[in-house]
Amino acid sequence: MIRFFIGIALWFSIQVAYAQNGKYLKLPAAKFSIGDASDWKAAAFNDNQWKDIKVGEVWQSQGYPDYHGYAWYRIHVTIPSSLKQSAVWGDSLRVFLAHVNDADETYLNGTLIGKTGAFPDDQGGYISKWPASRNYCVAAGSPAIKWDAENIIAIKVFDGGGSGGIFMGSPFIDMLEKSDGIAFNLSGIEFLPGSKAEQKLTVSNKFNTAIAGILHYQVIDELKDRVIEDKLIPASLPAYSGKAFTLAFPHREGIKLVYDFKEKASGKVKSFTEIAPYLLTPKEPLEPLINGAGVLGVHAGSPIIYKVPVSGQRPFKYSIQHLPAGISFDTQKGIITGSLPKNGSYTLNIKVSNRFGENRKAFIIKVGDKLALTPPMGWNSWNCWGLSVSDAKVKSSARAMIDKGLTDYGWNYINVDDGWQAAQRLNSGEIIPNEKFPDMKALGGQLHQEGLKFGIYSSPGAKTCGGFLGSFGHEAQDAMTYFNWGVDYLKYDLCSYSDNTAGDTTLYAQQKPYIVMRDELKKHQRDMVYSICQYGIHDVWKWGAEMNGSLWRTTEDITDTWESLYSIGFSQTNNATYAHPGGWNDPDMLIVGMVGWGENLHPTNLTPYEQYTHISLWSLLSAPLLIGCDMSKLDEFTLNLLKNREVIALDQDVSGKQAERLINDNGIQVWLKPLADGSKAVGVFNTGDKYKNYNLQFKQINLTKATVVRDVWKQKDITAAPLKNISFNIPPHGVRLLKIIGR
Ligand code: GLA
Repeated sequence: MIRFFIGIALWFSIQVAYAQNGKYLKLPAAKFSIGDASDWKAAAFNDNQWKDIKVGEVWQSQGYPDYHGYAWYRIHVTIPSSLKQSAVWGDSLRVFLAHVNDADETYLNGTLIGKTGAFPDDQGGYISKWPASRNYCVAAGSPAIKWDAENIIAIKVFDGGGSGGIFMGSPFIDMLEKSDGIAFNLSGIEFLPGSKAEQKLTVSNKFNTAIAGILHYQVIDELKDRVIEDKLIPASLPAYSGKAFTLAFPHREGIKLVYDFKEKASGKVKSFTEIAPYLLTPKEPLEPLINGAGVLGVHAGSPIIYKVPVSGQRPFKYSIQHLPAGISFDTQKGIITGSLPKNGSYTLNIKVSNRFGENRKAFIIKVGDKLALTPPMGWNSWNCWGLSVSDAKVKSSARAMIDKGLTDYGWNYINVDDGWQAAQRLNSGEIIPNEKFPDMKALGGQLHQEGLKFGIYSSPGAKTCGGFLGSFGHEAQDAMTYFNWGVDYLKYDLCSYSDNTAGDTTLYAQQKPYIVMRDELKKHQRDMVYSICQYGIHDVWKWGAEMNGSLWRTTEDITDTWESLYSIGFSQTNNATYAHPGGWNDPDMLIVGMVGWGENLHPTNLTPYEQYTHISLWSLLSAPLLIGCDMSKLDEFTLNLLKNREVIALDQDVSGKQAERLINDNGIQVWLKPLADGSKAVGVFNTGDKYKNYNLQFKQINLTKATVVRDVWKQKDITAAPLKNISFNIPPHGVRLLKIIGR
């Protein structure tokens, strides 16, 4: 159901946990048929008439562009006994099938060897499991394996929408070694006084056999290319056990932790590298600071809910001057509510104090035709929970958003993505939630009580990308339902609507479904931010605003890898002039924290350098900022990344200009965003794999002299003297984010 793009193919090539052993056989091709029949699993079935297909690429890109449903792959492979003979452990044969969009059942010569997800015809119905890697193991002595003869690996697949088939990796078979049972898990980073940090490394044995070997770990200073610490620790791990080690290292940028486990019998090594997390955002001051853009766009007469974002030590005392008629202010919670019947600009003066000080800020409510005068900020369930989202998971993230202080920095939307819909509408045609969401209206109400906003997801097609009910033919009813539930944001995702446009590539065919829903949303006295999600087809940035879109996706889906981040983020070069207050280019949601697109979450695969790049680039791009992780599990590093008021202020700058790339030079990219106060936000990115020294000549970015250059992450002026250039070392895939006052 995830939509496929080229960058994704690289994703799992870096998943070391599944790297094949020395001897292996690639499984690059198969026979293929759409449909389903019970005898297709059998070794004896004659598939001569079937088409050839590449294994590892979705079938949509191989001649089946609009097909969703059942299909079979039959891989013919001779498995040489030399594979078994050269193995040290020799216990099991592994069949690695990368990922399958969306569910599969796999047979070896007619014997079932694995199943992931569930088919629509299964009891309990369809469950998509595309994020899971398929590693199916068969005992080496099993009669299912025909050594030195042709074997048939038959894979039954069901695709529920979007893309389908075996993808995101290169399938292979090999023999498991004991080293494959070793897994590393780093957890519980602690930043200690004296610029020190500690992390717990757990080495576990996932197999039902003892594993002995040597743990080797190194702490490396990347900038100086120097090993700071080097340790060898013998370790014996009984079956299904784990051992924890504490790793200590300096707390600063540029520290790399490299560790591996060398299994004694085979000498095979399982290794891993991590860039040590480091904090850049300074400690939050105790005095109150009013964050947020200071401007809110609403429609005349629509209900307003706005929680004033304030950081600092609670309790606060709030007061507001110039409260217009129709607006009230909850001085306990700091929430503005009410409505304003007439178009115009209303300036309120907010004051917040605590025992450490006070802060004042002008706050403008602009009543007119535009919402989202600055890019929406909040959370969306997709990148973490995928289709397993539930009321409880949404509430726990909303709670965490408040308790962990994110709302103090302006994060406020709580958006439920795909997977909330019941299998059937009511007889009246009304959409209802499934059993995971007992009461949508109550959920919306609860979020509003806390000053949060409530978002929901649908598709103009009959089915969403996840195979749930879409709005096709029910647009008026659905808009009414969202209104009744108190929805503040609708993500409207093209998905299976493309079945209706088959062959019609005109612009109007693309716009039509968005016009239909736009006109329905308009009928209701409620401000629903309209998020157009159709992956950038037909240069949506040129017409998204006409659809009343407050944001429009410019790309296919993002995943938590550098390849994905790079190909999406750094390609936003042709749409900058279309971003404006009320209408934003959306390069997709954030991929920091615990993500996973399903029940099993993992820490993002991005390094800390890449995460600083991600947030910096998205802020420069004036991108909507939707956190995609399980917020109840936010760690100190990720929170620090998401609570930098100066970085967020670049994204939320009221001028609404999007950064443009001014330099693209041998792995260095410089992006510049003009800010409302006349200064410039500048990101200097190193897209290469090594630390790089770069000298930025200000005249290259049309500034002759800079009087103040500020490091935005550290919230510290680098210099206040007039400068013509500046040089720095930039970490691999990292960034220096500056705010420059100059001319
Ligand atoms: C598409 C979208 C994602 C997500 C899923 C839900 O892939 O691009 O952001 O909404 O659908 O199925």
